[in-house]
Formats: sequence, structure tokens, C-alpha cells
Amino acid sequence: MKKYIDINDIKNIPLIIKEAIDLKKAPFQYKNLGTNKTLIMLFFNASLRTRLSTEKAAKNLGMDVICLQINNSWNLEFEDGTIMNLNTSEHIKEAAKVIAQYADIIAVRAFPTLIEKEKDNAEIIINSFSKYSNIPVLNLESATAHPLQALADAITINEFSKTRKPKVVLSWAPHPKALPQSVANSFVTMMQQLPVDFSITHPKDYELNSNITKNIKVNYNQEDALKDADFVYVKNWSSYDDYGKVLHQDTNWMITKNKLNNAKFMHCLPVRRNIVVEDAVLDSDDSLVIEQANNRTFAAQVVLKQILEKLNLKTENLTGF
Ligand code: CP
Repeated sequence: MKKYIDINDIKNIPLIIKEAIDLKKAPFQYKNLGTNKTLIMLFFNASLRTRLSTEKAAKNLGMDVICLQINNSWNLEFEDGTIMNLNTSEHIKEAAKVIAQYADIIAVRAFPTLIEKEKDNAEIIINSFSKYSNIPVLNLESATAHPLQALADAITINEFSKTRKPKVVLSWAPHPKALPQSVANSFVTMMQQLPVDFSITHPKDYELNSNITKNIKVNYNQEDALKDADFVYVKNWSSYDDYGKVLHQDTNWMITKNKLNNAKFMHCLPVRRNIVVEDAVLDSDDSLVIEQANNRTFAAQVVLKQILEKLNLKTENLTGF
């Protein structure tokens, strides 16, 4: 693997899930793979799980890790040809090249504006790092995608599935703040590549990007959609059509124990208790949220391992005559 910016960078999803589960059983088996290699993680936005699990994953592979809360630095300019006489102090063209001299892999978290839809869809920040750094880039949640979360979710479904083709439902839930569509987008993309019976339920007007959800069943009746589900993945997202808006916070869409029935509950975290989901679900054995968070380490580790193997191969090919 040369990079992991979106799910399509993985060639064989079932195989990578199997490899991640093998790593989970013996996390230090490739301790020498990352020797003398550095991962630089750049955070434009806050994180708990992504920050810690990715660092742990890199250290399990023997890498050195440097983490920069880049939003505390000066503002970077991403537009080409701009006269930089406003509040940006350094262009991505220099910044990315400079960082690449200190790193072997760059990992970036940069949320969407939720204001400028076209800019967000163009993934300007993460794609600029990839373009100008010329080294592998790992997506720690970008404007439209959270592929490491989706890989951890796929691993979790694989581990807890009791049938060959489980029924998986993605359900919208209310939230007071405008949240990105990235987790939902990547989950939908991932589910399309797995042997699952997948559908989405959300209120009207909360349609996701139709390029991502085409061919997926959408049911506006949550109760009906959740019937006989094995896994209910719950997430809030703001409107895509009325971009970035919270159109309503219908509390009837909160997930309750009653609605869940016998299904397992999944959420990427952080989650707002008794807004998105009631305590009785999160505090029950049917909640997989802690297992999902644990699998973030092995999702990151399998991706970093594959990138390191590619890098090491390149280095070997450069030596000798
Ligand atoms: N799920 C997730 O990405 O968590 P953090 O925002 O804490 O990294």
C-alpha cells in the first residue's frame, strides 16, 4: 500500500481484516519493521482515539512518532497563486516538503469546513499534503472520509458476526452540533465491499452524498429499518444537501434498548449519552463501542505495516547496482 487516504487504497478488504486480526493476537511480531522510520501526525482538529491508537500502532511496529497540533501553529495557505497578504503565513508547498524531510509517513486530521461544499469535497488539505510531500499519507479523518475508523468497524463486525451475511443498519441520530458526514461516508463505502445485508435509515433531508450511497437501500422509517438487524451503527451527520446545517434534532431518532432489540450497537465515539443513545444501551453487553475503539489500533497498525513494507522494498531496490 502506498498511502491510505480512502478505502479504495486497500486492494483486498477481507485479507486486510484477517491480517489486522492476526496483528491483534501478536501486536509486536513486526517490531523491527519500523526501525529508524518516523511517523509525523498533524492534527488540525482535536482527537482522543485516533491520536492515541495511531501512535500505539506505530510504536508496536517500532516507529518513532512526532505529533503536532498544527492548528496551534500559523495558518497554512492551500490555494495556488494566492497573494498571501491576509492571515496565512506559510504555503503548503513549502510546509509539506519540509515536513517530509523529517518523516517517512505523514498522517493528517483535517475536518471539513461544513460551509464550502466544493472545497470540502475536493479534500484540498489531505490531497495537498499527498501531492507536495511526495511521501505516503495516512488519513486520520478528512473532510469527507474516516477510512481508519471504517476499517476498525469492519474488523469489529467480522469478529462479532454470528452469521455469514449479517444485517447491518446505519442509523442517523440527533446531535446538537453540526457534524461532518465523513464517518458515515466511509462506513457506507466499507459496507459495500463486505458480505453484509446493508441499509441506511435517516429522516428525510438527511441524504448523504448520492455518489456514495447509490444502490443502497434507504428507509425513512427507523423502526422498520432496524427490524432483525444484527448490527446497528449509529451516527449523526449534518445535512449534505443543505450543506452543514442541523435541520432538526428529532429526539425520536435516539437509539433505545427497545429499538435495538437483539442487535449489537456500534458508534465511532465520542458519543453524547441520552441524546444519540440512551445509557441502557451503552452500559449493556450489546454495546461494541469499546471493542471498536480497541480495533482502531489494529486498523492503523495493518495499514502502517503495509505502507512500511512498500517503503522498505523501495529502499532495498535503491541499494546495490
Ligand atoms: N472515532 C474517532 O475518530 O475518535 P477521535 O475523534 O477521538 O479521534
